Amino acid sequence: MQIDILTLFPGMFEGPMTESMMWKARDQGMLDLRMHDIRDYSQTRYRSVDDMPYGGGGGMIMKPDIVVRAVESVLGDAPEGTPVILMTPQGRMFSHEIAVSLARLPRIVILCGHYEGIDERVADLVVTDEISIGDYVLTGGELAAMVIVDAVVRQIPGVLGAEGGAERESHADGLLEAPHYTRPPVFRGLEVPPILLEGNHAAIERWRRVEGLRRTWKRRPDLLLKMKLSEADQYLLAQFADEDAQNAAQHDQS
Ligand code: ADE
Repeated sequence: MQIDILTLFPGMFEGPMTESMMWKARDQGMLDLRMHDIRDYSQTRYRSVDDMPYGGGGGMIMKPDIVVRAVESVLGDAPEGTPVILMTPQGRMFSHEIAVSLARLPRIVILCGHYEGIDERVADLVVTDEISIGDYVLTGGELAAMVIVDAVVRQIPGVLGAEGGAERESHADGLLEAPHYTRPPVFRGLEVPPILLEGNHAAIERWRRVEGLRRTWKRRPDLLLKMKLSEADQYLLAQFADEDAQNAAQHDQS
């Protein structure tokens, strides 16, 4: 997969995009990540890229001619339908589903905004998608772009390796993951759930499903509303609620 990033600050990507899983994906040829400095497309002596906003107000706006020139040059002979994604707090909210769908594409282009924003005509002319990573404002789109790249790249088949498959992780099936443990079996008096030590894989899978469901119910009940729950799942949820009510009653008595 090829990912092109247009930014005023290519140096920001150097650490995060050259370590760990990202390094492995690039080293093994599964990810071709290319950085493009938008300033290279400025034609002024001081390589300026911004100007004052029409109508007044604070901050500077990235100029449409420069940004459009940069995007069109990077797109070059990109496959038809290659998305050009603008990182902005005004975009649609990023999610696991979006990461999976982007990972299926041969190529994506990500445009990072800075200053107060980008002239709206850039969005009108060359942007095909606008994505936000949360309801807060970052100084620029760079950190958001890195979040997207990380989440997308781990969905590329082969990047995580067989045992660390992306299918079982939190959000992949709409649920949070069950808790994880490693040695020792008892640490500061806290025991690893015995079922995990017994080697019965079917029982372990069932336990993980129950605990994933329990975690989701406790921490992110909003996710359950979006899921199709089986009868067994609904029975478990009723059980969690019962247990909770019993615990609360016991707590009240003591
Ligand atoms: N740029 C600034 N804030 C952002 C956000 N929350 N998501 C994506 N891009 C951004």
